[in-house]
Amino acid sequence: MELRRVTLKDFDKLFQWINDEDVRKNARYTQKVSRHSFEFDFLKNIENPNIHHFIIMDNNYEIGQIKISKEKIKVVYSYSIDKNYRNKGFGLNAIKLAENYIKDNKNQFKDVNELVAYVRNSNIGSCKIFEKLLYNVEFKNNDYTIYIKKL
Ligand SMILES: CC(C)(COP(=O)(O)OP(=O)(O)OC[C@H]1O[C@@H](n2cnc3c(N)ncnc32)[C@H](O)[C@@H]1OP(=O)(O)O)[C@@H](O)C(=O)NCCC(=O)NCCS
Repeated sequence: MELRRVTLKDFDKLFQWINDEDVRKNARYTQKVSRHSFEFDFLKNIENPNIHHFIIMDNNYEIGQIKISKEKIKVVYSYSIDKNYRNKGFGLNAIKLAENYIKDNKNQFKDVNELVAYVRNSNIGSCKIFEKLLYNVEFKNNDYTIYIKKL
């Protein structure tokens, strides 16, 4: 498995993935994303040096996407696996690859001292992933959990 940078050619695929039923259900804002607002964000993000957006690849197949956003001293993940490839370990490995990317590119993440994920409690798969990778529960309410790993 590997991560490759998102390019403009990935627009249609990412637009399709962002409106996947489970992606919306597990997102912070659950309503469908319009093409117009997706296009606005996509073009803005692709030029933002603090947003590292990748396609998750396995044997030349496009398995999913992961966005690593640097927000001052923290990094926040947003990721999804294509519905045809879920429950095969790709989600877990994508977060491992993201951690390695951050560690290997220290110059771009100079002030960062924590890795953060916001996960709905109903999203058992994602909760398991961060627990397996030894993230700590920083906050939890009825709806979601904030997982943090200190660097
Ligand atoms: C959440 C998501 C990224 C997980 O990726 P994945 O590749 O399916 O997960 P993995 O195969 O690495 O599974 C990790 C663990 O969660 C479990 N799991 C995965 N999906 C599950 C589900 N729907 N219900 C219960 N357990 C689940 C797996 O069995 C595995 O546990 P195990 O190691 O004890 O067997 C993927 O389901 C997805 O893209 N969902 C929609 C978008 C989303 O929720 N993104 C994350 C937002 S925080």
